[in-house]
Amino acid sequence: MKILAIDTSCDETAAAVTENTKVLSNVVWSQASAHTKFGGVMPSLAQRMHEERIDWVIKKALNTGHCSLDTVDCIAVTIGPGLSIALKIGVNKAKELAIEYKKPLIAVNHVEAHLLSPFANNEYLVSSIKYPVYGLCVSGGNTIFVKINKIGSYEILAQTVDDALGEALDKAARMLWLGYPGGAILEKFTKFGNSKAYSLPIPIVGQEKRKIFTYSGLKSAFYRLVEKEKPLTKEKIYNLAASFQNVAFEHLIRVLRFIFTDHRPLNTDHLLVGGGVTANIELRKKLRDLCKEYDIKLHIPYSKKLCGDNAAMIGVTAFLNPKYVPPSKIDRNPNLKIF
Ligand code: KG4
Repeated sequence: MKILAIDTSCDETAAAVTENTKVLSNVVWSQASAHTKFGGVMPSLAQRMHEERIDWVIKKALNTGHCSLDTVDCIAVTIGPGLSIALKIGVNKAKELAIEYKKPLIAVNHVEAHLLSPFANNEYLVSSIKYPVYGLCVSGGNTIFVKINKIGSYEILAQTVDDALGEALDKAARMLWLGYPGGAILEKFTKFGNSKAYSLPIPIVGQEKRKIFTYSGLKSAFYRLVEKEKPLTKEKIYNLAASFQNVAFEHLIRVLRFIFTDHRPLNTDHLLVGGGVTANIELRKKLRDLCKEYDIKLHIPYSKKLCGDNAAMIGVTAFLNPKYVPPSKIDRNPNLKIF
């Protein structure tokens, strides 16, 4: 099934062509540099930039994928969760094209797509994996750990009660005036820093049985520390970045470890991971080490482009879990859940 997929959930205008789980093209136009001066995503600017770029990314995705709107079998689009006025651009475009070219329309959940992104270009994994499996989405908008009973059936094992992991990294980077999107920039600074230079509180340490992720306390402690350390030298910034990232990841790993211990009788031995923060080398290492400890097979998207927001994962998810919607009925749902 050849799918033209569209995603405009936040600040990336994305289109892709997929054939079953194979990625034929994956075009992402990032607006990040335009949002830098605001220190985060400015919704009205995101909407305008999606409007300006949507036709361009679709044309490029079709050309690179060597097909046309006449030859794709259907159109898939992210309907949520995400920024309402950003989602609207993709949903309206998909609806318009579905009507004009008489193609079926598939509505896709963005978080589900992050969870299933390791299946992209991995037909073997799709056919060999035995359910249930674990799924982890660590992005700018979501931090959620689930049990995947089968594709389309998700059970929440833990989720954030305040910020998402990526959001917390972005905010820490902003406190250090490092720019946006902060997670990737912070990672670069951590390479020169000592993660043990400052002592920051690991969230809910000793209370992992609560099965939540929370970053608000850590963020406040970091703010106070940054204020205390001012004026900031380069060396201090390196050490602050490394210390924050280390504790933020340590919290995630501790909660996962608790759940792995708790759920071992289920014999779930695969973990699918997706979302922008998955691009982080240190997080990958920590997840690899944890999975090794529990004899769990870790599956991460094959390219960094598939970790952050992209439309190839939308096409793959539309193929694996097609939710057909008549064009007259499709609508965005900024708070869409996966359960
Ligand atoms: O998946 P994504 O592109 O958007 C959402 O669906 O939310 O994730 C964006 C998040 C941002 O918070 C960004 O700072 C973070 O992923 N991120 C990273 C890295 N690259 C992107 N965080 C840590 N290390 C990275 N290398």
